[in-house]
Amino acid sequence: MLEVKKSVGRYAASYVEDGMVVGLGTGSTAHWFIDEVGRRYQAGELKNILCVSTSEASSQQARELGLPLKNLEDVNAIDLLVDGADETTRQFAGIKGGGGALLHEKITAEYAHKIVWIIDESKLVDQLGKFPLPVEVVQFGSWKLFDRFQERGMNPSFRKDHKDSLFITDSGNYIIDLHLEQIPYPEKLAQEIKQMVGVVEHGLFLDYATTILVGKQDGTIMKIERSIVQA
Ligand code: 5RP
Repeated sequence: MLEVKKSVGRYAASYVEDGMVVGLGTGSTAHWFIDEVGRRYQAGELKNILCVSTSEASSQQARELGLPLKNLEDVNAIDLLVDGADETTRQFAGIKGGGGALLHEKITAEYAHKIVWIIDESKLVDQLGKFPLPVEVVQFGSWKLFDRFQERGMNPSFRKDHKDSLFITDSGNYIIDLHLEQIPYPEKLAQEIKQMVGVVEHGLFLDYATTILVGKQDGTIMKIERSIVQA
């Protein structure tokens, strides 16, 4: 799987053109995209790009590669955002946030003209929900919110970090993962969760991506393009 993530991540860097404002996604697949953008930048192919990152982890990687980093506020828009995903349908409904960066990823995606998701083929699904749906919540009252998710049969669990402490996002919030198994109506669920007080954002990304690049075990890459690209 690592090789597939590497090849699709690196391939996505071929979408970057000099002069672009480039959004850097988060996760182990986006890592390879950033790595290859860094290589091309150092080789002088992308002298005039600017990068906007979706997480502290990706910012750190970009800094190590010497990439020119800007805050989202400092650019008009992002020409191309390349990011991973945890699950997606061919209809561009996806779950993100497995790496805990969903809030900054979604805010960044709002300002991107073109969004390319890079995934391996195991993440391409007919229906969302096998992957737990991450929900970013403010710390205050989060156990009460947890109970509400439980009452609604949403099988919540608090995200833990590698030290078994509660995971804290780059914005200082917690993440509650909902183990739903299936999400037949993503739009309805997105609305329901967004209305709950204390929820900052959820990991349902509906109609954000404009292209999905699917890395396959046989080394090929399948492209799924959205026919109507919103401005
Ligand atoms: C981070 C994300 C990641 O893009 C998603 O979890 C995919 O990660 P990976 O490429 O490591 O499988 O949404 O918040």
